[in-house]
Amino acid sequence: MDLTKLAVPIVQAPLAGGASTPELAAAVNAAGGLGFLAAGYKTTGAVREDIRKLRSLSEAPFGVNIFAPPAPVRDAAAIAAYADSLRRDAERHGTTLGDPRHDDDYFDAKVELACNEHVPVVSFTFGCPEPAVVRRLHEAGCDAWVTVTNPDEALLAQSVGADALVVQGFEAGGHRAYFTDSPDTEELGLLAALQLVRNRVGLPLVAAGAIADGTAVAAVLCAGAAAAQIGSALMLAPEAGTSEPHRAALAEEGSTRLTRAFSGRQARGIVNRFMREHDADAPAAYPDVHYLTTPIRNAARQAGDPERLNLWAGQAHALAVPAPAAEIVRGLGAEARDAAKSLALRLERAG
Ligand SMILES: Cc1cc2nc3c(=O)[nH]c(=O)nc-3n(C[C@H](O)[C@H](O)[C@H](O)COP(=O)(O)O)c2cc1C
Repeated sequence: MDLTKLAVPIVQAPLAGGASTPELAAAVNAAGGLGFLAAGYKTTGAVREDIRKLRSLSEAPFGVNIFAPPAPVRDAAAIAAYADSLRRDAERHGTTLGDPRHDDDYFDAKVELACNEHVPVVSFTFGCPEPAVVRRLHEAGCDAWVTVTNPDEALLAQSVGADALVVQGFEAGGHRAYFTDSPDTEELGLLAALQLVRNRVGLPLVAAGAIADGTAVAAVLCAGAAAAQIGSALMLAPEAGTSEPHRAALAEEGSTRLTRAFSGRQARGIVNRFMREHDADAPAAYPDVHYLTTPIRNAARQAGDPERLNLWAGQAHALAVPAPAAEIVRGLGAEARDAAKSLALRLERAG
């Protein structure tokens, strides 16, 4: 996958939890960007269906994102204490808490599926795949991308044979992609992360985090990225599977924050009551806490209650518009071109 050959330098963010659909990926492809499917939280059979559906809608290359297996840490006492603090929320929605499992989201089966389907780009988040996994993907003709949040992660990803890196800044919506959950890890903003990573590795970079208009696309390309990854700004498109309460919250001004309250792993979402009430008590226990809160989030979504739902969104979500995805992608490309031209003119005049 040569990112410089994309007609529009836009990569759709994989958006697990419902927003990523084959229709969204096909629309991004049709506009000249790179569409992505999110394998996270789905069965292998459902991912296979998504791949086949996307292939029936688009002949262009696309990506599939897979969650790297979580570290084997599990503080059962902290999870039980957190469960106690959530019971009233479950009761309020007439449901019970989920079983706090610690699983790997069918990692091996999803990698095998991607190989068998010869998926053009397979990206990983939440960790670095083993060299053998990357070799297996390469043998099957797939490119392997890894999402990183700092230069050390970038060096590790380069050492296992990654073909490109997605550099995620802390502005980004949804889960932080860090490899290890440590309070000592510095949270880098996108421009800082891009510069530091580019200084250490020579791989093509895709920039992610609060990129919601063409000037921001131009900015990350100027900073050395080969493409910009767009998440929140595509979530109001009719092709996205974003739930109604999530759409309503994204379209409004509203501050975002990182929280472990919903899943046990830091993720950025629009601040709501669940976050305010539970953030301080939530343990670093992913995906156990994700499974614990799943019934509450499902019930809240069905009831249209935005206060107990994970409203994942990047810091620029208020710029999202409810337009067809292809129109959004083409608009971002055109705006980026205009921004780059006027910057070049200005710098030439100054020089
Ligand atoms: C609803 C939602 C779901 C996401 N799911 C995934 C995912 O499954 N895999 C992944 O690598 N990143 C996921 N992300 C993070 C995005 O890939 C990307 O880093 C982020 O959307 C960029 O920030 P932005 O939303 O401000 O554009 C998700 C983000 C959101 C908002």
